[in-house]
Amino acid sequence: MTTISIIGLGTYARAIGTRAIEGGNAVEVIGRDAAKTKDLGDELGGGATAGTFGTAPAGDIVVLAVPFASAESVVAQYGDALAGKVVIDISNTFTAADDTELVTPDGSSGAQEIAKAVPSSAHVVKAFNTVFAHVLALGRPLDVLFAGDDAQAKASVSAFIETLGLRPRDVGGLAMAHWLEGAGLLMMGLAGHGAGFNIALGVDLLG
Ligand SMILES: NC(=O)c1ccc[n+]([C@@H]2O[C@H](COP(=O)([O-])OP(=O)(O)OC[C@H]3O[C@@H](n4cnc5c(N)ncnc54)[C@H](OP(=O)(O)O)[C@@H]3O)[C@@H](O)[C@H]2O)c1
Repeated sequence: MTTISIIGLGTYARAIGTRAIEGGNAVEVIGRDAAKTKDLGDELGGGATAGTFGTAPAGDIVVLAVPFASAESVVAQYGDALAGKVVIDISNTFTAADDTELVTPDGSSGAQEIAKAVPSSAHVVKAFNTVFAHVLALGRPLDVLFAGDDAQAKASVSAFIETLGLRPRDVGGLAMAHWLEGAGLLMMGLAGHGAGFNIALGVDLLG
């Protein structure tokens, strides 16, 4: 059984936490408000526990389920408590005010900026940002595109994705996170121009 820690108590934390429990993982939820954290743990059920914000997460895999605007400061508050962890960055790097531009520095990505802020023994893997939370919550099989530089970290994220009944699709090194974040914009463009929000980005393997 894999233990997954989820930092954040919002829409995505709820969706991925639910599927993680259904997939047989142990789940720890962590938020900055202890009462809200306990409430989400109780709501998820399945033995989900409430962790303490800023202390070492129980899971070897830590899902960073906070807005990109907060992600670097959250990671900085954790400091060495994230040593050795696999950190999944699920963030989309556009703002609510503008979903046509990325807010990250040229030549970088949210995941690469977060990677600069974690301890050197931690490994950041970009994943899930191309899957809408409400679509994840449908419980259907979907493709989850992911990118990272460390083979072992990617293998553990891939195995975690499979426990959710989802198909892991490796797109390469962490530099590819820029294009995954661009695909997040693509999803918003599709959703806003006729396709609607009940969509999933998938890969057809044609034999
Ligand atoms: N929703 C989607 O369909 C979707 C799809 C793909 C990717 N994502 C990504 O998933 C991430 C989470 O999105 P969401 O939809 O779950 O957002 P959300 O519902 O607004 O939840 C965000 C959570 O982050 C927490 N948070 C924000 N700033 C924080 C800080 N400085 N310290 C500690 N906690 C902080 C909030 O805590 P409080 O509860 O205390 O305010 C809240 O629990 C984002 O990066 C987003 O881009 C979302």
